[in-house]
Order: sequence, then structure tokens, then C-alpha cells
Amino acid sequence: MPAWQGTPKSGLNKRTQAVLLFAILAGISILTFSPYRPHLRLPNSSTYTQASSLSSKQSPYAYVTLLAPNPKLDNKNVPDDEDEYFVGTRVLAYQLLHAPNTRTNSSIDFVVLATPDIPKSKLDRLRKDGATVKVVEKIYEKWMKPGLVRWRDMLSKLYMWKLVEYEKTLFLDADMLIAKRMDGIFTDSTTVPLKTKPSLAVADEGPFPSSYVFAAQTYFEGRIHKYPIPSGDFFSGGFFLAQPSIEAFNYYRHLASMEGRFDSNGMEQHMLNYAHRKDGPMPWVEVNYIYTTTWPSMNEYEAGARSMHEKWWDQSLELDPKLRRMWYQARDDMEAFHTARDGAERKEKMKETSLT
Ligand SMILES: *[C@@H]1O[C@H](CO)[C@@H](O)[C@H](O)[C@H]1NC(C)=O
Repeated sequence: MPAWQGTPKSGLNKRTQAVLLFAILAGISILTFSPYRPHLRLPNSSTYTQASSLSSKQSPYAYVTLLAPNPKLDNKNVPDDEDEYFVGTRVLAYQLLHAPNTRTNSSIDFVVLATPDIPKSKLDRLRKDGATVKVVEKIYEKWMKPGLVRWRDMLSKLYMWKLVEYEKTLFLDADMLIAKRMDGIFTDSTTVPLKTKPSLAVADEGPFPSSYVFAAQTYFEGRIHKYPIPSGDFFSGGFFLAQPSIEAFNYYRHLASMEGRFDSNGMEQHMLNYAHRKDGPMPWVEVNYIYTTTWPSMNEYEAGARSMHEKWWDQSLELDPKLRRMWYQARDDMEAFHTARDGAERKEKMKETSLT
């Protein structure tokens, strides 16, 4: 019989129990309170990953604009925020992505196509604003003579058709004021794909896509007009919804190179009007009028127009002062929003650096 079995050593046993109990309690508290808690951390972090990948589900649609140098500022060294088209692009980004009443509620991207001569400071700012910035080549055809210098780079809008990661894209000029959420336009019955009609094609104009989307608004001029405006044959090049397609891009590029095929004065506007002429293979469709208007007045705003096209910053234009104030208000809101957000980001960064 071993010695320890027969000897009563209950005092020692109690001490062993106490040591064991202490060890267990210490172990639990280390697991619970130490920063190294592998078992407790892992499920948490994978939960977060799952949640964020669900909420960032990508939309098949995108809003798109083009930013090219402002000819009025050629060879002038002015601060970025004095370039009206750049500021207009920022206001558009704010209205489409951040402003509570007008922002996308279905995660639709805002893509800025920028020509290679846009300075990095502007590209960086637009990225901070939440835009998806893509630098694109300038498209230039020697035979084409823009009616206004401002239109010289407008053929670069065609790069929108190369955004084939999206099913539909809405092009908006940067001088667009958003009055109401625009997301519904992508599923509107006026923007569904249509079959091309090869029998109406001109032989030397080359291959084109078998289906297409092209919805725009009839071009008109004059502050006083009916809304909806009566449909015509010619559309405005400042607002159109289309389906990205490399075949379509190549078709337009080929058309643009055909000297004299269309009036070059209006650049991309005339070229697209020729490509989508009503008696051609890919006739354009009048977009649901509620989504946009040009030469706006309070009449259209009150009728529910969701976007309004105007050079809001041009003081020589006779605009309804209430409408003009809306654009300036959107610009102020945009600046306040980003000042607050940039400040919060800076604080967050400082906290990180002081921790490490
Ligand atoms: C987005 O807002 C519109 C109103 O503008 C609403 O009808 C729609 O249900 C909203 N969609 C989502 C996904 O919240």
C-alpha cells in the first residue's frame, strides 16, 4: 500500500484544491480580459466582413459625366474651386451620392470620365468625394469643327460605352441640378434594350451591336415652353441613358471618322443624333420626361422634374432666382458635408498614428 494513501494529509489536499481553483480563475480572466482572445475575436471579425460585403453589393447601373479642361481657364493659373465645371461635377457627385433627398438608395456608382490634362489635385478631390474616376483619352477628328470652343473635347463622352462592367449608364452634363432621386430611370420602361434594325443600315457604316439602349430628351430652346415638351427628331447631348458596349463604341468611332456624314458643329451631339436617327437602324427613344428638362423654370420644378440642365453659375443668364439659389445651396451643403467628413477622417488618422 503506498505511503500517501494511508496517511491523512487533508491540509495539503485543501491547499492543492485552492491552487487549482486559483489557476482556473486566472485562466478564465486571462481569456476574458486580455487583448489576445483568439477564440472570441475570430467569429466577430468574420461577421463584420460578411456584413460589409453584403451592404456594398454592386449595382449594374452608373451615373456618368465627363470632365474636360474649361477653355475659359486655358493658360490661367486659378484655384480648382474657380473652375465652374469642376465645381459642377462635385455638386453632382454630392447630390447623387450623399445628399439625403437626392442620393442613390441602391448603391449606384457615379463615374467621372476625366481627360488626361485634368490635374491630379482635381482627380484626388473627386475620389474623396466618392466618385469613381477614370482617365480617358481625348477623341479628336480633324474634320470636325466644334461650334463652341467649350465643346472641343466632348467626343470623349463616347468612353461611357466602354464601361461594360455596367448594364446601363446615364450620362449627365456637369451643369445639372438634381431635384429628386434619379435611380428609377434605370428601370423605367423608356430605357429597356431594343433590337437593332440591320435593314435600315448604311453599308459603309460598319458593324453595330444587335441590341442597344438610347433614351434622351428632345432638344429645344427657350425658357417658356410646355412640359412635357413636344417630341421632336433631334435630342440634346447633355442627358442620355445607354447600354455600354464595345461594338457600339467602335460603331460611333467609325462614324465620327466619316468626314461630312453629319454636321460636325455640335460634335458628339450631332454624331449621336446621326447614329440614332429616327429612320436609322438604332432609333432613339424619348426618355420619360419626368427625369429631366433644359431651359428650366419653376413650372417644371413644380411639375416634378427630377433634374434640370442649366449653367447655374452664369450670372448673365436670366434664371428663376429660386432655382439658381437651389444650386448654390447644394454647393454650400456639399462643402459643409466634405469639410465635416474630411475633418473626421483627419482625426481618425491622427488617432491611429498616435496609437502606433
Ligand atoms: C429608394 O427611394 C425611392 C423613393 O425615391 C423608393 O420608392 C424606393 O423604395 C427606395 N428604394 C430602396 C431600396 O430603399
